[in-house]
Amino acid sequence: MNTISNIGVFTSGGDAPGMNACIRAVVRTAVYEGKKVTGIYHGYQGMLDGTFVEMNSRSVSNIIQKGGTILKTARCIEFRTPEGRAKAYENLKAQGIDGLVAIGGDGTFTGADFFSREYDIPVMCIPGTIDNDLYGSDYTLGYDTATNTVIDAIDKIRDTAASHGRLFFIEVMGRDSGCIALNAGIAGGAEAIMLPEKETAIDELIDLLERAAFKQKTSTIVIVAEGDKNGGAYNVAKRVKEKFDYYDTKVSILGHLQRGGSPSSFDRVLASRMGYAAVKHLLQGKTRMTVGLRGNEIILTPLEEALNNKEFKLSNDMLEISQIMAI
Ligand code: F6P
Repeated sequence: MNTISNIGVFTSGGDAPGMNACIRAVVRTAVYEGKKVTGIYHGYQGMLDGTFVEMNSRSVSNIIQKGGTILKTARCIEFRTPEGRAKAYENLKAQGIDGLVAIGGDGTFTGADFFSREYDIPVMCIPGTIDNDLYGSDYTLGYDTATNTVIDAIDKIRDTAASHGRLFFIEVMGRDSGCIALNAGIAGGAEAIMLPEKETAIDELIDLLERAAFKQKTSTIVIVAEGDKNGGAYNVAKRVKEKFDYYDTKVSILGHLQRGGSPSSFDRVLASRMGYAAVKHLLQGKTRMTVGLRGNEIILTPLEEALNNKEFKLSNDMLEISQIMAI
């Protein structure tokens, strides 16, 4: 046990607010435990290119409040091949890295799964994605911040929507996950929310909007998750407009602004807890695990279990709340 001497840390896939706070926690916990830490730039791509940097407590000063990731990130096609992974292993070995902490989403976890089956390097995974779509944790890093960013945008759009009496379609991120859409929709008082997990037919939406118009609402906001099956906010707006041409309809795609910004207090603390736990468990001999939050407890889930399961994070109550609050 505790034979690890040099922990490699990297971020991979889409960046998320809180990744820097997590890198900081990994580095400082490793330093506290008397270990070397090596930052790997550009995720798996950096393992292939050998872009390594030795880190210490000062390398992570003043980053807890910063969005993005100081280690940069990438989606790496070559790492998906056995040859790519062999090259990565040789580079890590030459650098003396004998343990890994990976921060990212589903693709990052999949890469870690393949790599740690093939090569004897212990690895711990930390869920970092604004989508909150990973099994094994109630919350992923960045999700809380992104949701707050969306709420801020909804509030601002509501001001102009109410002033003009307009119908707005706001598209939010979430390729397969409606977490941001549902939670920000409830918090922003949306009249309707369209989710990838629960299809809403256009006719159903039109009925709902007709009822809202009948109730003399001064503005209407429909949140459309990027992964909604009707094909995004522009398509939904176009189809609604065909039936509802008297409505002054506008579309706002929030896009990548949801990925940036200073992490919320929740994300900073979660990142600190997860980074700390990943290093502690790695040094206790754990490998192929993901770190997660259940209730207020930090837990571990076997990587394989995390990858083979989907967690439905939208409760029926939340779905009903979103509808009742819009009446
Ligand atoms: O997975 C996070 C995420 O922001 C998704 O919500 C979105 O669909 C995707 O990444 C966008 O990816 P990219 O930044 O590569 O366009």
